[in-house]
Amino acid sequence: MTSSFLKRAAIFSFAALVGGGPLIVFACASGASGSPHTAYQTTRKDAGTPKSTDVTLNPTTGVVISYGDKYITYNAPSTALVTLGQALFLQNCASCHGTEANGVPANGTNGSFPDLVGLGPATIDFWVDSGRMPAANVRAVQAIRHTPRLTKDQAVAIAAWVNSLSPSYPDIPTAHLKNANVSDGAALFALNCASCHTIEGDGDALASDTFSPSLRNIPAFEVVEAVRTGPANMPRFTGNLSDQQVDDIVKYVTTEIQHPNNPGGFGLGGLGPVAEGFVGLLLGVGILILIAYWVGERQ
Ligand code: HEC
Ligand code: HEC
Repeated sequence: MTSSFLKRAAIFSFAALVGGGPLIVFACASGASGSPHTAYQTTRKDAGTPKSTDVTLNPTTGVVISYGDKYITYNAPSTALVTLGQALFLQNCASCHGTEANGVPANGTNGSFPDLVGLGPATIDFWVDSGRMPAANVRAVQAIRHTPRLTKDQAVAIAAWVNSLSPSYPDIPTAHLKNANVSDGAALFALNCASCHTIEGDGDALASDTFSPSLRNIPAFEVVEAVRTGPANMPRFTGNLSDQQVDDIVKYVTTEIQHPNNPGGFGLGGLGPVAEGFVGLLLGVGILILIAYWVGERQ
C-alpha cells in the first residue's frame, strides 16, 4: 500500500514539474528589464475638429468655446487662464518639457521628453489630473497614476497655456451619464476595452513592463479623456466611437465596474476567467482527489 502511495506521489510531482516548468521559465523571462526607455508618444496631434452640430463660438473672436451633444460636452479652457497656466508650467513642467513645451529642456540636452504643443487640452488635463505629471520617475517605463500634485483648476490653467501655443482638440469633456445606457456600455466595453482592462476593469499586464491599469476610482471625465486621447500604450478612439457610445461606456465603468455586485456570492477579486478557473480546478479536482484516495484506501 505504501509503495503504491509513493508511486502515486511520484507521478503527481512529475506532473506538477511538467506543468509548472514553463510557467517558471516564463516568469523569469518576463522579469528581465531593459535599457532606459524612450517616451511613448502616440500620434495624437491634430485630433480633429469638433464634428458636433452643437458648437458654441465666442461672439467676438469666433473661437470655439464648447461643443458636443446631450451625451458629452467638451469645453475649451478659458483664455483668461493663459498667464497663470504659463507660470505654473514654468514651475512644474519646463524642467523636462522645456519652456516652449516642445520637449526640449533648457540645458539643451534633448532628453526623451514628449513635445506637448498641439496635443489639445484634454490630453494635458488628463496627465496632470491623474497625477502622472509632473513625472515622478523619468526612467519609469510607464508613468503611473498618483495623487495629483496640482489642483483641477491648475491643470486646466496649464492646458489653457499649452493650447494657446497651437490651438487643438479635444477640449475638456463632461459626460452626461443620465442620458447613457449601461447595457449598451457593457457590450461596447467588452468589445473595445476588455481585451486590455479585463471585463471587470481590473487591468492586466501588457508587453515589456507595461500594464493597463485598473479602472476603479477613475472619475467619469477622465474615462472620456483616456478614450478620446489614448494615453501611452492605449489606442485613441475617435471616429469609431460616437459621444453617445463613449457616454454608455463611461456609465458602465462608473457603475458596474466601480460598484460591482456579485450574484454568485464570491467576486474572487474579479480576477477573470483564468484565475476563477484555477480556483475551480483547485477546489474541484482537489476534492475529487481526496475522494479518490478515500475510496482507494478502503478496499
Ligand atoms: C521630471 C520630468 C517631467 C516633468 C517635470 C513633467 N513631465 Fe510630462 N512627461 C515626462 C516624461 C518622461 C513623459 C513620457 C511618459 C511616458 O511615456 O510614459 C511625459 C509625458 C507627458 C505627457 C504625455 C505626452 C504624450 O504625448 O503622451 C503630457 C501631456 C505631459 N507629460 C505633461 C506634463 C505637464 C503638464 C507637466 C507639468 C505639470 C509635466 N508633464 C511635467 C517627463 C516630465
Ligand atoms: C491596447 C490596450 C488598451 C485598450 C484596448 C484600452 N486601453 Fe485603456 N489603457 C491602456 C493603458 C496601457 C493605459 C495606461 C496608460 C498610461 O499609464 O499612460 C490605459 C489607461 C486607461 C485609463 C486611465 C486609467 C488611469 O489609471 O488613470 C482609462 C480610464 C482607460 N484606459 C479606459 C479605457 C476604455 C474605456 C477603453 C475602451 C474604450 C480602453 N481603455 C481601451 C490600455 C488599453
